[in-house]
Amino acid sequence: MLLLFGMVVAVGAQGNDSSGLRIGFSQVGSESDWRTAFTEITLAEAERREITLLFSNAENSQEAQIEAIRSFIEQKVDAIILAPVIETGWTAILLEVQAAGIPIVIIDRNVTADESLYLTRVSSDFVFEGRLAAAWLVQVTSGDCKIVELEGTVGSSAARDRQIGFNQVISLFPKMQIIVSQTGDFRRTLGQEVMDSILHTEDPSKICAVWSHNDDMAIGAIEAIKQAGLDPGQDILIVSVDAIPDIFKAMMDGDANATVELSPYMAGPAFDAITAYLNGETVPKWIPVTGGIYFPDTAAEEYARRQH
Ligand code: AHR
Repeated sequence: MLLLFGMVVAVGAQGNDSSGLRIGFSQVGSESDWRTAFTEITLAEAERREITLLFSNAENSQEAQIEAIRSFIEQKVDAIILAPVIETGWTAILLEVQAAGIPIVIIDRNVTADESLYLTRVSSDFVFEGRLAAAWLVQVTSGDCKIVELEGTVGSSAARDRQIGFNQVISLFPKMQIIVSQTGDFRRTLGQEVMDSILHTEDPSKICAVWSHNDDMAIGAIEAIKQAGLDPGQDILIVSVDAIPDIFKAMMDGDANATVELSPYMAGPAFDAITAYLNGETVPKWIPVTGGIYFPDTAAEEYARRQH
């Protein structure tokens, strides 16, 4: 069977535990390479399990996500997966989903709604990611560094919690200081624009590091730093989150220093949770996905391994 919803087509059939299920997936958008990989992996996993996935790309609009969820309800799907663009404003639509008797899984970013309104969350610990990035930076700078922060999408839990975790650690060191913090919306082009403008308003020789909430903005910043005649990775350290292939390429070129991994393999645990629930099993309220921190020493190996 071939269904068309939103921007992508998926197939469904029968055969294994979750085969034959019809699941609606509302995705944030396609703002970063990580997001694109996450989408591709989810579609492939649905196909492998013979799940019919109704896919909707919201292009970073909460309104579009709410509309997609309503459409999934009308189509009487077996379950819904929501990757929410921002944290707040979900309670009303989650109540509608609950009233329709459809289980909903929150994936990747978090919502602030009551946890009784969703089946489970499959996500990483964004606070921990921020802490890990900060701990590395403290170590390599001996606790003395003026930092430019490139924030992710305003209102998203990924941006907020990474910021919280990073700030928790640097606040323990009086000479670790964020001198500018601006959003680049998790986008490469905006990361470059924002960094370019910061390099014109701040004294570049004072900037010790860029802490970027994702790799794409870091790669944009690297470009801006090069255009300013400086050496990224050397004059200005670069630490970010995601572990996409391009950041490993940047490390191989000596332009980036560290990345905290965000695994894009969240669909499998989400489909497992839905299947378990539909089979009458109890599902935990949080299913964590974990990742490490990577440096230039393994960049070539990681780059080769992560070509999807
Ligand atoms: O929610 C996770 C974040 O969203 C990723 O770190 C970023 O690349 C994406 O846009």
